[in-house]
Amino acid sequence: MEAATLLLQLIILTATTASSAHPQQGHGGSSCIPAERAALLSFKQGIMVDPLNLLGSWRGGGCCRWSGVSCSNRTGHVTRLDLRNTLYWQDQSELYMDNPHGMQGQVSTSLLALGHLKYLDLSGNNLGGAGVPMPSFLGSLSHLVYLNISCSNFDGRVPPQFGNLSQLLYLDISNIYPYSGQVFSTDISWLGRLASLMHLDMSGINLTSVADWAHEVNRLPNLRALRLQGCQLTRSTPALVHSNLTLLEDLDLSDNVFYAPLAPNWFWDVTSLKTLSLEFSQLYGPIPDELGNMTALQVLDLQDNENIAGMIPPTLKNLCHLEQLIFTSVNLGGDITEQMDRLPRCSWEKLKQLGFVGTNMTGNLPVWLGNLTSLEGLGVSDNQISGHVPLGLGALSNLSVLYLGSSNLSGVITQDHLANLVSLKIMDLSFSSLEIVLDSAWTPPFRLSTVKLTSCQVGPQFPVLLKQQKGIYQIDISNTGIADTIPDWFWDSISHASSVDISHNQIYGNLPTKIEALTWQELHFNSNQLNGSIPELLTNVTKLDISRNLLSGPLPSNFQAAELVAIVLFNNYISGVVPTSICRLVNLAILDLSDNLLSGELPQPYYSVLAIHTLLLANNSLSGEFPSLLRSCTAITFLDLANNNMHGNLPAWIGDLSSLVIFRLRSNMFSGHIPSEITKLEELQYLDLAFNNISGMIPYSLANLTAMTSMNLDPGKKGLNGPFVQSAKRFGEVMDFEWYGDSLYVEIKGRELPYSTQLQYLVSIDLSSNNLAGKIPEEIGSLIGLINLNLSSNRLTGNIPYQIGMLQLLESLDISGNKISGVIPQSLSNLTSLSYLNLSYNNLSGKIPSGHQLDTLNTDDPATMYIGNTGLCGYPLPKNCSDSEKPHTNPIRQDNNSTIHGLHLGVIVGFVVGLWLVFCAFLFKKRWRIAYFRFIDSTYDKAYVFVVVNWAIWFRKSHTTPSST
Ligand SMILES: *[C@@H]1O[C@H](CO)[C@@H](O)[C@H](O)[C@H]1NC(C)=O
Ligand SMILES: *[C@@H]1O[C@H](CO)[C@@H](O)[C@H](O)[C@H]1NC(C)=O
Ligand SMILES: *[C@@H]1O[C@H](CO)[C@@H](O)[C@H](O)[C@H]1NC(C)=O
Ligand SMILES: *[C@@H]1O[C@H](CO)[C@@H](O)[C@H](O)[C@H]1NC(C)=O
Repeated sequence: MEAATLLLQLIILTATTASSAHPQQGHGGSSCIPAERAALLSFKQGIMVDPLNLLGSWRGGGCCRWSGVSCSNRTGHVTRLDLRNTLYWQDQSELYMDNPHGMQGQVSTSLLALGHLKYLDLSGNNLGGAGVPMPSFLGSLSHLVYLNISCSNFDGRVPPQFGNLSQLLYLDISNIYPYSGQVFSTDISWLGRLASLMHLDMSGINLTSVADWAHEVNRLPNLRALRLQGCQLTRSTPALVHSNLTLLEDLDLSDNVFYAPLAPNWFWDVTSLKTLSLEFSQLYGPIPDELGNMTALQVLDLQDNENIAGMIPPTLKNLCHLEQLIFTSVNLGGDITEQMDRLPRCSWEKLKQLGFVGTNMTGNLPVWLGNLTSLEGLGVSDNQISGHVPLGLGALSNLSVLYLGSSNLSGVITQDHLANLVSLKIMDLSFSSLEIVLDSAWTPPFRLSTVKLTSCQVGPQFPVLLKQQKGIYQIDISNTGIADTIPDWFWDSISHASSVDISHNQIYGNLPTKIEALTWQELHFNSNQLNGSIPELLTNVTKLDISRNLLSGPLPSNFQAAELVAIVLFNNYISGVVPTSICRLVNLAILDLSDNLLSGELPQPYYSVLAIHTLLLANNSLSGEFPSLLRSCTAITFLDLANNNMHGNLPAWIGDLSSLVIFRLRSNMFSGHIPSEITKLEELQYLDLAFNNISGMIPYSLANLTAMTSMNLDPGKKGLNGPFVQSAKRFGEVMDFEWYGDSLYVEIKGRELPYSTQLQYLVSIDLSSNNLAGKIPEEIGSLIGLINLNLSSNRLTGNIPYQIGMLQLLESLDISGNKISGVIPQSLSNLTSLSYLNLSYNNLSGKIPSGHQLDTLNTDDPATMYIGNTGLCGYPLPKNCSDSEKPHTNPIRQDNNSTIHGLHLGVIVGFVVGLWLVFCAFLFKKRWRIAYFRFIDSTYDKAYVFVVVNWAIWFRKSHTTPSST
């Protein structure tokens, strides 16, 4: 705790207790002034809910004995009322939902009768609500020295009446985690009347309309601590004519939106500062030399101001008290040794936290790192630093957090590096080129809670680093070259872990039949060579991924893990049936059993509605009719039953699966008609019924597939990509994306290409190789989002509708192997995105149109697009056209409007093609794709969590926890 707060506490304690004492001691103890007692009881009446029973003792006897109440032993007056809900700050993660421990009710004006009150703390309770402002009458309690009504769920304007509290030393009206309403102030000139104020916290209050806030606070010359975190401050004040804040020690301006340069700012004149917090505040420009004037500075946090750039100023050498320096996600650049050489030597032995994560630095770590003997946290990951890790690091016996990952660091980490790191808790070397080589007899001196070694060289043996660790909470040793069986001690080491990732190794052998740990939530064992059967699942597991292994035998008949959200077991040798017990997993959202040897019919639902939104069962030998299990799955978004032995008609209730985006039944034996209800699926974006025995006509109401009728390309928005992205986000929440990589293939452009997350851009209808008859409906022209259309190998008749020319995004069109007659419409040459066309083996006739895109297709052997149509003539076929076979003219004349329209489309199309090219690049360059999506999907989340959680925990504790107790 900072000196400022200690001093303040002392002063407040003296001020508010000098004339009071504990009730049991003084004469005020038993008795209490009747009017004040009545006022307190009246206050109690205003409290409806009191979960912690704070007011439980407020009945009978003298009120000075009541909990939270203190009286003066000289006068008997109530001087102190402390009803703080301390639990509010203990688990912030739950706060966004609810404040389960807070009292609920209103602050009764009866408190006005407590005319001698000096200390009032109601913080962390639900005393407001939408439309309920902070009680302005508190401004009449003129003896108040301490007022804390922070986080009490008030709304609306801050009452300027607080300016009447001229005795106030401490004012906390912050509102950091609001769950109703937004407190604001447009004029804080009333602050100027609080001349004695030492501590002011207005964090979370919208002060965006206060023009001169810095001048206002400059009228408080006694201020020790000023916290204006998340106040929507938009302007910074370059410099004050004269700074009165000569005693200010703690300044928090984080989470604001200054959009201003860092350098010319009034706070550089405040040389008394010990803590300066400017993280997430949209500041830019260089770090000014004036920093060197702040010789008392202990903590400087500039995290997440990406536009602050350049070298640490050389004046930093004056800061001999520096303990924490956080530059995470600041664009420092340059050579890390050069930057770190500017750390003040006079504080080498005091430095505790150094945050250089994501600062664009290069070069090698300085060899003198071992001289920072107090260092507790070192973060240099996510830079381009290279070279070896200096051996001196191993001397840092206070080091508990070490981030070296996402770097080009190389060389070997041996036990010499680790031998003295007795405090180490968090170790992240992932995505570096480091190799860990440890003596198999070595025992680590530390107890890790988080180990991340992803993509380091660790194997072939299981790392002894993990031996005798019992406190591991999170472990990721994926892709570390381990080619070993899982040693017995490993199960011990991870027995309290919540997330375990050993994927992408060559780990072999059986998994235990039953895994006896209860803390696990996420298990990633995928992409190894594990064999044997699937272990019985435990009650707490939420996500299980053992895909791409050699597991065999049946699925466990009894799924007990009721919390399971995702089961991903694709690409194994799992046989037998899908057990009925799967229907009992009420939280199951993702089930991927593709590429196994499953057979039999899917179970009938008998228990409850499934929450499932992704069901992937492709490439098995499942039989039976279209599973009735799905009838209750109205949340299903992604359904893949391709390559099984299912038969029968498609039920009309398919139309009720209104969330379906991707629907794949390819290569089964489904028959009957396509139910016209299928066109009720407004979110449907990918329909694949190819290679079945489906007969009848293509439904005419295709235009109702509204997800395909839009060209909305903004993946974040509702529209074409909206639903899929929404569900993709849900996948992201429950599972890493990677499983969803190349286990399945899409058929497009006459080839199979692996799925990827870019599937979100693929709008496709594939009805090929069925027995469909009748005409191609003209309504197809309204599906302008289509990228792939495959109607080949059916018995379709009639003409190619000229409306096909409206499908401006179409990249692949295949209607080969039908009985389509007539001429090829010239409108096909409008399809500027087309890169694959197949019209072969139909009854087409007349001259083949040319021009635009058509001339660029299949240039190796263009004739293959048209062969098997005896009536066709002209290039690229060898048959010349006779005079009677005039070039066909487009039946609709293009009017002027459509030219303009075409221009717009061209722009959009160019964009799509661009995206598609990126997509294709990803398809073929797996490394890029993984890298890219890791970046998008994981880095964002993980880096964010990493930054916020870790740095918040390790570096920002004192800011988020109010310092009074
Ligand atoms: C209040 O009571 C305590 C203990 O009984 C005593 O030490 C203190 O001096 C008293 N204060 C005044 C102002 O009387
Ligand atoms: C802050 O207040 C301004 C108007 O005073 C308003 O426009 C803005 O939306 C508010 N900010 C937030 C986050 O509520
Ligand atoms: C503080 O500084 C301002 C000038 O910035 C000045 O007007 C004011 O009188 C000073 N003193 C106090 C107590 O506000
Ligand atoms: C603060 O530092 C700057 C640059 O290092 C210097 O020019 C200035 O005189 C210093 N101001 C004070 C008050 O020491």
